[in-house]
Amino acid sequence: MKILVVGGGGREHAIIRKLKENPKAEKIYACPGNGGIARDAECVDIGAKDIPKIVEFAKSEGIGYAVVAPDDPLVLGCVDELEKAGIPCFGPRANAAIIEGSKVFSKNLMKKYGIPTASYEVFSDADKALEHVRTCPLPTVVKADGLALGKGVIIAFTREEAEDAVRSIMKDKKFGKSGDSIVIEEFLEGPEVSVLAFTDGKCVKPMVSSMDHKRAGDGDTGLNTGGMGTVAPNPFYTEDVARECMDRIFIPTIEAMKKEGREFRGCLYFGLMITKKGPYVIEYNCRFGDPETQVVLPLLESDLLDIMTATTEQRLEETEVRFSTGAACCLIMASKGYPLSYEKGFEINIPECVMDRVYVAGASLKDGRLVTSGGRVLGVTATADTLGEAVAEAYETAGLIDFENAYYRHDIGKRALSALEG
Ligand code: AMP
Ligand code: GLY
Repeated sequence: MKILVVGGGGREHAIIRKLKENPKAEKIYACPGNGGIARDAECVDIGAKDIPKIVEFAKSEGIGYAVVAPDDPLVLGCVDELEKAGIPCFGPRANAAIIEGSKVFSKNLMKKYGIPTASYEVFSDADKALEHVRTCPLPTVVKADGLALGKGVIIAFTREEAEDAVRSIMKDKKFGKSGDSIVIEEFLEGPEVSVLAFTDGKCVKPMVSSMDHKRAGDGDTGLNTGGMGTVAPNPFYTEDVARECMDRIFIPTIEAMKKEGREFRGCLYFGLMITKKGPYVIEYNCRFGDPETQVVLPLLESDLLDIMTATTEQRLEETEVRFSTGAACCLIMASKGYPLSYEKGFEINIPECVMDRVYVAGASLKDGRLVTSGGRVLGVTATADTLGEAVAEAYETAGLIDFENAYYRHDIGKRALSALEG
C-alpha cells in the first residue's frame, strides 16, 4: 500500500519511521517532508496546507491511506477532501478538528458536558474584555480563539499585562482572525501532563503519558517555544490520575463530540494540569503533539499502521495498543536565537550509528548535505528501561551531533526525575 503523510516536522518523521515497520507500507510519501525525512520517505514539494494539490497528488499516485498530522490542514478540512476523493485517512474531519481550531468551541463543550476545565468568559468585543481584566482575579490567562502557532496564550500577572494581551490580540490582531474572539480564564496551578489517545469516535485508547518542556531556557525560563524536549512516561500521571482522567475527561469528551454530531477519529491530545482539585483540561489538540510523538511512538510495541487503519474503520476496540514499560527522552536541538530570529544554512553532522535516534524537523538538503533551515532543527530520542538512563543517553547522543549555533536545554527530564525520586 502507498501511504501519504501530510506534514514535515519531527513529529511526521517519527510517524513515518513507525509506519515503515509494517511490511504493508510499501512506499511512503511526505507532503512536504524535510531533508531528514527524505531518507525514510519520498518528499513531495507540496505544502501541508495546499489541500487541492495534496488531493490531486494522492489521486494520481494511487495513495491507499493518508495520515494528516498537523493542525492547519486538519482544521482546513484536508481529511474531508481526501475522503471525498475515496482515500481513507487517519485524522479528524474539520467538524471535529474544531476541538483545537476554536478555544471558544472547546471551552463551551467542556462546560456543557461537565468536563473539568478552568472557569472562563468569552469576549468578541475588545472594550468589554478590557473592562473584565480591570477587575478579574490575577494572574489571569488570555487566549486567542483560533490557531496561533501555539503562541496564542498569554499568562498575565498584572492588569497592565492583561490589558496589553487583550489589545494585542483583539485590536492589533497579532494573530489575525484567530483573535476575533478571546477566552479569558482562571489561572490553574500544578504539573502538566500530555496524553495522546487513539480514538475511533466510539472507544478511546490512551497512549503512554508524556511531559513537554515548552520554555526556551533551562529551569523553565525564557520564551514559550513549540517544545524543547519531552519525556515519557510522565511521573505525575499516576494510576489514580489515569483512572480519573479516563472517567471524567477522556470518555466524556469522546461522547460529547459524538453527541454534537462531530465524531472524532484520529489522535486526540489532552493537555492536562494535575491541580490540587484533580486533573483539568488545559487544551485539546486534534493531532499528535510535537515533540510528544517523538517519545511516545518509540515506546509503542503494537503496529502503528494497524492501529491507524483500525481507527479509521472504527475497529479500535478489538485492536491492541500496547506500550513498552520503559522510558524515553527526546531532546530538541534548535538554532541559537529560536524562537526569535536565528541564522540558518549550517551543515549538520550526524554520525550514521545514531541516525535511527534522530527525528529531523527544520533541515533541508543542499547539494546532498543536510543543512539547518528552521528553529527546531532536530530531536534526539533515546529509549531505555529507566527514565534516568534514557535522559543520559539522549544527552550523550546529542553530544555526537554537530552544527553551528546548535542550542539545547540542559535540564530536560530533570523535573520528572526529581518527582520519581519523590
Ligand atoms: P495552550 O496553548 O492552551 O497549551 O497553553 C500554553 C500553556 O499555557 C500551557 O501549556 C500552560 O502551561 C499555560 N496555560 C494555559 N492555560 C492555563 C491556565 N488556565 N492556567 C495556567 N496555565 C495555563
Ligand atoms: N507539544 C505541544 C503541541 O504539540 O502542541
